Amino acid sequence: MDPQPLLLPLLLLCVSLAQRTRDTAEGPALRGRLISGNGPLDLGQRWGLKTPLMHMKANLTEVTSIRSTFEFRTLDPEGLVLYGDTQAGAEWFVLGLRDGVPEMQIRKRGMIVAVTGGPRLNNGHWHQVQLRNEGQSVVLEVNGSQALVLGLHSQHAEQDTMGLIRLSLGGILVKDLELFNSLRLEMDGCVRAGNWLNLSQPWATELVGEPRTCFTHIRRGSFFPGTGLAVFNTSDFPTHQGTGRSITIEMEGHIGNWTGTVLAILNSQHKAILTIAAQNQTQKLEVTFGERTDSLSLAQNELLLNLSENVMQIALGNKVIAELRDDARDWLNIWDDGMLLAFGGVPDYSTNTSDSQYLHGCIWGIRIQDRELDLDHALYKHSSISSHSCPASPDLLESSALLTADR
Ligand SMILES: *[C@@H]1O[C@H](CO)[C@@H](O)[C@H](O)[C@H]1NC(C)=O
Ligand SMILES: *[C@@H]1O[C@H](CO)[C@@H](O)[C@H](O)[C@H]1NC(C)=O
Ligand SMILES: *[C@@H]1O[C@H](CO)[C@@H](O)[C@H](O)[C@H]1NC(C)=O
Ligand SMILES: *[C@@H]1O[C@H](CO)[C@@H](O)[C@H](O)[C@H]1NC(C)=O
Ligand SMILES: *[C@@H]1O[C@H](CO)[C@@H](O)[C@H](O)[C@H]1NC(C)=O
Ligand SMILES: *[C@@H]1O[C@H](CO)[C@@H](O)[C@H](O)[C@H]1NC(C)=O
Ligand SMILES: *[C@@H]1O[C@H](CO)[C@@H](O)[C@H](O)[C@H]1NC(C)=O
Repeated sequence: MDPQPLLLPLLLLCVSLAQRTRDTAEGPALRGRLISGNGPLDLGQRWGLKTPLMHMKANLTEVTSIRSTFEFRTLDPEGLVLYGDTQAGAEWFVLGLRDGVPEMQIRKRGMIVAVTGGPRLNNGHWHQVQLRNEGQSVVLEVNGSQALVLGLHSQHAEQDTMGLIRLSLGGILVKDLELFNSLRLEMDGCVRAGNWLNLSQPWATELVGEPRTCFTHIRRGSFFPGTGLAVFNTSDFPTHQGTGRSITIEMEGHIGNWTGTVLAILNSQHKAILTIAAQNQTQKLEVTFGERTDSLSLAQNELLLNLSENVMQIALGNKVIAELRDDARDWLNIWDDGMLLAFGGVPDYSTNTSDSQYLHGCIWGIRIQDRELDLDHALYKHSSISSHSCPASPDLLESSALLTADR
């Protein structure tokens, strides 16, 4: 892939973080600010970085308890929850979620093993989680019931009692993790009431400001706080996966509460073809197609964009509100060749000034060709966007449908 101007600041950030946390034989020094390991901690505040949000280390000789407990809440089906290692990363442990259920992977004495199972945890409720060593096994308990056990018997009976143990949240402490099953590390989840190996020492964080706090109550959706966008390549959703005759992008949400750019499509020269922006104050939707701008009244909770050969159709609910025709272009071919599809803003490749406004609002769901879109899989996503959760008011949550995992 060509270097992307948009991604460049992100890459530079990765490099500077990597330099600051360069590993030594003893593992990275605990530089950066010290914060409590108890949480609450929003694990999803940095997209596209593998380095942890916070980490700690201890002498194995000081570890008297091989038990960690914490509470965990998420609506995200996949991601990393906890990483731990010894021998500067030669032996490691990973707890994550895959398809909403817990997964443990361990590397020990050159072997990697993985086990997945137990209750579905991505239901937006708090779960009491306990991890402990029992002989040669690692046991995961959820709400007091055994959920998953991973045993690893070794000829070498001696236990690791020397050296350092390291733990991290929101990322890993090695450059790359050679997992048994690869895992998308980003996790939009919250950890609180953490007790890690009964050690009370502080953790180190590279975060400059305060860590972002967890939403008190959450509902299903993607929250755009007005500070960034997410970009996809349309060629990742080829037309032949649908009817082949049209492409549909559906967005659900309380559109009257959105403000800023909802969606933008840019051609391969990064020129905007279509932008749709919402204005909560005027309750209007502004649709810009080439030179033309339409201002339309908002009503429904569903916005549909339908691209067929020469026509782009925009509908609110079941009502088509705009039809944009260009007989000189075949949108389906251009789509398959690769355009940029952005949610929450207009990617700006030219200068650092942009007259578009980033979206503020909760998108309950985005579907492309009838498939749910996971913002964690974007080409680029601003870290301020919560991919799988929006803040919610508790009275709204009376309706548990707001948390339902399956749609
Ligand atoms: C671990 O123990 C060794 C030897 O007792 C000591 O030199 C070292 O500073 C300790 N490291 C940490 C992180 O406490
Ligand atoms: C945990 O730590 C506390 C205080 O540091 C200590 O009193 C207690 O015995 C420890 N528990 C275990 C299981 O090691
Ligand atoms: C754990 O308990 C909490 C509170 O009772 C509940 O909401 C959650 O769904 C439980 N988790 C599982 C996996 O049963
Ligand atoms: C819309 O925003 C208003 C004011 O911010 C808020 O009171 C209301 O709950 C929101 N409605 C929905 C459905 O999110
Ligand atoms: C519009 O949205 C902005 C940003 O969320 C908010 O500050 C403002 O109160 C909203 N205005 C109305 C009329 O809902
Ligand atoms: C999209 O547009 C095409 C062509 O106008 C039409 O056949 C198709 O039914 C539309 N799809 C939806 C979901 O509106
Ligand atoms: C999008 O995908 C197309 C086709 O795979 C590729 O040629 C193009 O470089 C991609 N664009 C970006 C910005 O990654």
